[in-house]
Amino acid sequence: MRPPLFRLAGITKSFGATRALAGVSFEVAAGEVRALVGENGAGKSTLLSILAGAHRADAGSMELAGAPFAPNSPRDARRRGVAMIHQELAIAPDLSLAENIALGSEASRWGVLNRDAIRGRARESLARLSDEVLDVDRPAREFSLSVQQQVEIARALSSDARVLVLDEPTSSLGPADAERLFRALRALAGRGLAVVVVTHFLEELPRFADSFTVLRDGAVVAEGPISEASPERLVRAMSGRSLEMFFPRVPHTAGEELLAVEEPCGSSATDAPGISLSVRRGEILGLAGLVGAGRSEFLRRVFGLDPPGAGRVRVGGRELTRRHPRESIARGLGLLSEDRKTEGLAQGLSLEDNLTLSALEPYARWGWLSLRRRREAAGAWLARLACKPADPRARVAELSGGNQQKVAFARLLHQGAQVLLLDEPTRGVDVATKAEIYQAIGEEAARGKAVVMASSHFPELLHVCDRIAVFQRGRLRAVAPASQWSESSLLAAASGVAP
Ligand SMILES: Nc1ncnc2c1ncn2[C@@H]1O[C@H](COP(=O)(O)OP(=O)(O)OP(=O)(O)O)[C@@H](O)[C@H]1O
Ligand SMILES: [Mg+2]
Repeated sequence: MRPPLFRLAGITKSFGATRALAGVSFEVAAGEVRALVGENGAGKSTLLSILAGAHRADAGSMELAGAPFAPNSPRDARRRGVAMIHQELAIAPDLSLAENIALGSEASRWGVLNRDAIRGRARESLARLSDEVLDVDRPAREFSLSVQQQVEIARALSSDARVLVLDEPTSSLGPADAERLFRALRALAGRGLAVVVVTHFLEELPRFADSFTVLRDGAVVAEGPISEASPERLVRAMSGRSLEMFFPRVPHTAGEELLAVEEPCGSSATDAPGISLSVRRGEILGLAGLVGAGRSEFLRRVFGLDPPGAGRVRVGGRELTRRHPRESIARGLGLLSEDRKTEGLAQGLSLEDNLTLSALEPYARWGWLSLRRRREAAGAWLARLACKPADPRARVAELSGGNQQKVAFARLLHQGAQVLLLDEPTRGVDVATKAEIYQAIGEEAARGKAVVMASSHFPELLHVCDRIAVFQRGRLRAVAPASQWSESSLLAAASGVAP
């Protein structure tokens, strides 16, 4: 056995009355990649934040290379060699890749930026992650999310990180980009780094990890070498339940057309062929594609959040004329945005306020707002999606990432929209609750709603949707019944190889 590079023992952390971590201990050796899994709210992000200096533990100790380690800020942790990659990347879009990598590192000492040195270091650290040669002088916004993520990892490397922790790094990557990340992580481990990765995609663990730790209610309930980490075992450890009914099927049949979208040409490239899609009542249409393929933009244009261009949208045969979210909502459209932080939820408000703000009517009788009924309705949705805490009075900001996603989804269902536009509805959600969300989507279709759902996770699309449309570089490449697609044909179409 290699000696541990990093060790934590008895880590405890509470937020007010919520005990997020209850005495967590584990070790990571140099050259080891450890996967950290657990249900939403199990304490994974809290643990990583403590490792990376963003939170302080209430009790317990950490050791780095044999010396006590108790960082009092992320900067302090980075200085000691522990870097964290958050799911929301910290990239300056207008700075070049090289400048982004140099941010916060020693290359800018003496107040002078040595451009050649910065470029050289950037190229060197990117080369450690992948063979792809990138133009480090171009601004970050011109690159895909996956490249931006590599830039963030490269930044950590250029500050000589010894321990790298990543919180749900693959949740918005397509399969090819995820594979590229795994190769990069393996390469880093090969150079002696200790790596800890949080993920909800249990089937991908063997592709990058050597070992695993399962957290449940803030405590380690299972750990071991990756050879012992079958998805069934992990799910049982995470939740105490078994993995049956992973993709529940709710019978539903398609009726008349409810949503029709005609865009004469693709979103940006004027020479691209147009997008023409329609969805019927009782139908679930999936949107597949790699990150940046234009699915989110498409949903946002339909809903009226982004300028619609020359496109036309008909709902129930009648055209939307103003193309503004207010009109869309009035006509029965609902959007679950990919970005729950800025568009989805009011972080400072309670769950019940968030759930019901835009749908108060059912609770108002003779001008009264029935707080009791409102709270009951909100509580029922939260319980169904296993939201933790399920207390309608809790504030959104106190919830873990996956639990916030559940609230955003519950809110959309609660609004009673006829056309549901869902952008990555299960992003960051644990496996058990994913099944609940699939079930709820199926039930909405069975109630005669039209559902459009964008997802980067092909198995999810193949199981949940009736038809799947594939986007590539802002264009609609193909649309066909889900039964005619496979993971590999979706990937081929999404990468522009076929059909
Ligand atoms: N700032 C906060 N204030 C109050 N409670 C918090 C805060 N941050 C986290 N918590 C609580 O701590 C617990 C652990 O949350 P954490 O974010 O670590 O979960 P997680 O395992 O990362 O979940 P997910 O998979 O949903 O991201 C949860 O019960 C959460 O509600
Ligand atoms: Mg988290």
